[in-house]
Amino acid sequence: MGDVLACLRGWHPALALAELRTLLPDAIMTGTGIDRWWRMEGEQASQRHDVLEMSSGLQCFLIDGVVTSTDGLLQADWLERMRAYLLAHPVPGSVAVRAWKQGGKIPSWSLSALAGQLGGLLHDMGRSIDLDAPDHVLALIGDGPSTSLACGWMEGDGQAAFSSGQRRAGERPFFKPVSLDPRLARLAVNLASGPIHRGPVVDPMTGTGGFLIEASLSGRPCIGLDIHSEMVQGATMNLAWAHDDDVPSESSVKRGDATRLEDALPEAWIGKVAGFVLDPPYGRNSHGSMQADQLLEAAMTSAHTVACPDAGFVLILPMHPMTPHPMTSLPLDSNINLLNGEWKELLATVERCGWTPLSVHAERVHRSLSRLILHAKYAPQD
Ligand SMILES: C[S@@+](CC[C@H](N)C(=O)[O-])C[C@H]1O[C@@H](n2cnc3c(N)ncnc32)[C@H](O)[C@@H]1O
Repeated sequence: MGDVLACLRGWHPALALAELRTLLPDAIMTGTGIDRWWRMEGEQASQRHDVLEMSSGLQCFLIDGVVTSTDGLLQADWLERMRAYLLAHPVPGSVAVRAWKQGGKIPSWSLSALAGQLGGLLHDMGRSIDLDAPDHVLALIGDGPSTSLACGWMEGDGQAAFSSGQRRAGERPFFKPVSLDPRLARLAVNLASGPIHRGPVVDPMTGTGGFLIEASLSGRPCIGLDIHSEMVQGATMNLAWAHDDDVPSESSVKRGDATRLEDALPEAWIGKVAGFVLDPPYGRNSHGSMQADQLLEAAMTSAHTVACPDAGFVLILPMHPMTPHPMTSLPLDSNINLLNGEWKELLATVERCGWTPLSVHAERVHRSLSRLILHAKYAPQD
């Protein structure tokens, strides 16, 4: 097996890449020059399967996927390359071709015509075509901005969006304006916790339970705490709703204090928690139990006392938008303008609490608000 092309969704490719790297820590990723397509090697097929099931930012994998710039290329030459690819990578059973574009069209190249020609090649090779339920799908993706094509046998659902439509925050029985969007909540859980076998996930201030829903749906043992009983009841209702009243036994919501996790978590979890996702109170709709900065520091310190040695932490905080909006990972010394407090002080707090900042990204919420997504890892304390 050669390498695999990982194809990312478009809402934030840099965050999606950070998620993928965390879920597949042994894989080696190499850029293709296109921010949504990354070459990957060193992982197992079963790990790819798990990641496809649980990731937020991954679209699909193309096995030995071929990336081609269309600049100066004749369509006949591209088809010849694809014929060679198909001969070198035969698959058993029935096949179909699926084509989609990202970021606009490639001028003078019709994806549907190319897909038809690929179908013709497969037919000429004696393959049985089944458009409804093929055993294998040959994906063809056109990237408008780079005028490049990616093509290969696909693992995953391709262009389907992250399946959050049916559980959008506003559809849940208990909704508050603080509720996080499922795709960001899922991404944060994965970024914090890494591969599923690493251990349980804790959301110390669960609010309406957005992180908990995503962690439990991806099969992770998880506990969400909130200091307010109204939130505990609401998050419990949301969790039951997300699981059609069949909540996994290892997922629960409890009333508890984020600053005293050692009292709130089961004894068996102490020293074993693999990931923390924290979206602390801000604004008028959440009522913190102490000053926001003190609460954050106490919660991060408490998390350190129950974490496993390779635990991760994802902290989400509101920030003023940057212009232009950065779609890349931000250097830690960037000039980040938090809505509350100073960025440099926040970094110092995170380190003081026993966490090493790894990466920071910004996600746009609307014209006057962005969210900071800070990923940190457990740092052993003397
Ligand atoms: C911004 S909201 C979390 C929103 C959540 N991510 C969601 O999707 O709904 C912050 C939550 O922290 C809770 N909280 C405040 N102080 C707390 C503490 N000391 N321990 C636990 N929860 C606390 C608040 O009640 C509030 O529900």
